Amino acid sequence: MKLFDVYPLYNVEPVKAEDCTVWDEEGKEYLDLYGGHAVISIGHSHPHYVHKLKSQLDNIGFYSNAVQNSLQKELADKLGALSGCDEYELFLCSSGAEANENALKLASFHNGKQRVIAFQNGFHGRTSAAVAATDNKAIIAPINAQQEVIILPMGDLDLVEAELKKGDVCAVIIEPIQGVGGLDEAETAFFQGLEKLTKENDTCLILDEVQSGFGRTGKFFGFQHHGIQPDIISMAKGMGNGFPIGGILIAPHIESKYGLLGTTFGGNHLACAACIAVLDVLEKESLIGKAAITGEYFMEKASEIPGVVRLKGRGLMLGIEFGEPVGEMRKQLIYDKKMFTGGAKNKNLLRILPPLTIQTDQIDAFIEAVKEVVTEEV
Ligand SMILES: Cc1ncc(COP(=O)(O)O)c(C=O)c1O
Repeated sequence: MKLFDVYPLYNVEPVKAEDCTVWDEEGKEYLDLYGGHAVISIGHSHPHYVHKLKSQLDNIGFYSNAVQNSLQKELADKLGALSGCDEYELFLCSSGAEANENALKLASFHNGKQRVIAFQNGFHGRTSAAVAATDNKAIIAPINAQQEVIILPMGDLDLVEAELKKGDVCAVIIEPIQGVGGLDEAETAFFQGLEKLTKENDTCLILDEVQSGFGRTGKFFGFQHHGIQPDIISMAKGMGNGFPIGGILIAPHIESKYGLLGTTFGGNHLACAACIAVLDVLEKESLIGKAAITGEYFMEKASEIPGVVRLKGRGLMLGIEFGEPVGEMRKQLIYDKKMFTGGAKNKNLLRILPPLTIQTDQIDAFIEAVKEVVTEEV
């Protein structure tokens, strides 16, 4: 059987990984500055993570959401304590798109409205309402286009207010720092304005933390840089360090009801064990504070790279913008320098999303490699 051909692939097959290092089938070693799309938070195959998952599997890997599962409660308590969001309630699912789909649906259930405000260059996933709220026409099928979504420029509160005043907007959804779009971030005044306007107009403010959450920006959640309290927070990627798990945090004024949301796989034993291990390691190894410090080190070093137009992002959610497309540079980095990096909708942007455990000498090695590639190209 052939695989449905939707992914352009690099000709590399990782078969083993440890912390920030990945090996291919020939034993060649690569430095991982991309964490498989920002998924690897505590480092590949962290011993505590491997132990937790293996021992969970020895006991029970899965049962349904129709019976007690105390791991969900343990996860919720640890997540509440470490994130500082302990007054929120938790619903677990299995991916980022599913988290946003549930966030949008819950907002609509809560206030009975149906229209969504999203922002230019935003990315929220590939399912029904999530993809309709994504600013990329190429991935929106006619069936998704029936959703009522307006895409606005980020930063213009007047335009947001004019739409909210129409009285039919169930949710405003925004990434704290845009991931796929290219690391743009609205100002604090804009986030605080969104919080105020959504409250005044009985609309839910959804912060999409699928990529930026779990410590990546140097705080547990990216919105915490702006002093706001969203109504709903969506999470996935770094949450399971590779095990598929997502979720939403729901402010207490939004009421639950049996059957309102549901999923077969969400919150299963293995997924919970993976996320609990991630939370344990984030706390024990102080990885969130380290991400902030290492990110500053990266920014300082990256400013020395010739041809850099702009450095973007926070913590270890970073972008280096050049004056021309970085596609060739990424190929040279992977094939010649043995380093994984990421691209973005902005073709001139090199995206850097390493495990939060990355060390300064590994950043030095990366900066040297990029300098060499840039100099060779001239
Ligand atoms: C901000 C954001 N939201 C949602 C998603 C969708 O997540 P998933 O691919 O797990 O469905 C992504 C994926 O890149 C993302 O970056």
